[in-house]
Amino acid sequence: MTAMAKARIGVLGAGLMGHGIAQIFALHGHDVVVYDPAQGALDTLKARVAANLRDLGEDERAAERVTPSSTIEGAARDADFVVEAALENLEVKQGLFAEVEKHARADAVLASNTSVIPITAIMKHVADGSRALGTHWWNPPYLVPLVEVISAERTSQRAIDWTMKLHTSIGKTPVHVKKDAPGFVGNRLQHALWREAISLVEHGICDAETVDIVVKASFGRRLAVLGPLENADLVGTDLTLAIHQTVLPSIDSRPGPSPYLKTLVDHGKLGFKSGEGFRKWSPEEQAALRLKVLHHLKAARDSGA
Ligand SMILES: NC(=O)c1ccc[n+]([C@@H]2O[C@H](COP(=O)([O-])OP(=O)(O)OC[C@H]3O[C@@H](n4cnc5c(N)ncnc54)[C@H](O)[C@@H]3O)[C@@H](O)[C@H]2O)c1
Repeated sequence: MTAMAKARIGVLGAGLMGHGIAQIFALHGHDVVVYDPAQGALDTLKARVAANLRDLGEDERAAERVTPSSTIEGAARDADFVVEAALENLEVKQGLFAEVEKHARADAVLASNTSVIPITAIMKHVADGSRALGTHWWNPPYLVPLVEVISAERTSQRAIDWTMKLHTSIGKTPVHVKKDAPGFVGNRLQHALWREAISLVEHGICDAETVDIVVKASFGRRLAVLGPLENADLVGTDLTLAIHQTVLPSIDSRPGPSPYLKTLVDHGKLGFKSGEGFRKWSPEEQAALRLKVLHHLKAARDSGA
């Protein structure tokens, strides 16, 4: 774990997350080598990073610090920090880290950007587990500040401290997740909400559009500045207890995915990619929603929220 003024970063996977993660490290002066088995992803890597930088009004020359590599060795050799952003598949990730260990320096920190897979499982075969951890970024990596830094069973505090510092130094908001639970913190919270959102529709309490209006026009407005536990303190833990006594018994607590969700998938209603999921989406509506989210995230970044 060397000084981080100018670190060498290896990224595995040049997709949506990998190229955005590479971009942030490069923008902050680090040299980044990105591996992907798909030549097309490598061929377009620098152009995608440059286009994002241009769009954000940032220095496009940072893309020059991003180097594509068709081998894992190219990304892992000499790196201070290797972050994996490949497919969300346990075996693929385990295989990648086995290969990384053959080439990486003994003091390199190894991280996975998995969305929900426990880091302990991903790093199971890594010989020195003390340097292996999770760094869970959010999409798009150059606009959403959070990075969850996750301790797996064998992770050392030293590796966590170093990784927290590294991500602070590139302008991210790292938080330490002390125990390795599937989905970490953010996705557990997010999907607890989605489970109830689906359940409300499944049980005919309201339609999908209404669920989304309720969230966006009420507590969603506050969420960026008022977390749920700040909110509980604000209204009082006694009131929170009283509310929970009434409402929790009827909130969905089934351990598996909703049958309603399964039916949608079985019928090919896959959301944007098929034009219909919980609701119907024309190509124009899809483009408009994507743009709206992007504008919102940019405005939040520009306001320093
Ligand atoms: N998309 C999100 O919102 C998001 C957010 C946080 C975390 N993640 C996680 O980040 C990871 C990457 O997601 P993404 O959205 O960038 O996916 P993506 O499909 O956009 O990119 C994945 C990339 O991995 C490459 N790849 C395939 N096999 C590989 C291998 N063996 N080694 C290296 N690269 C390989 C693919 O060619 C592709 O370029 C996943 O684990 C995902 O769960 C995604």
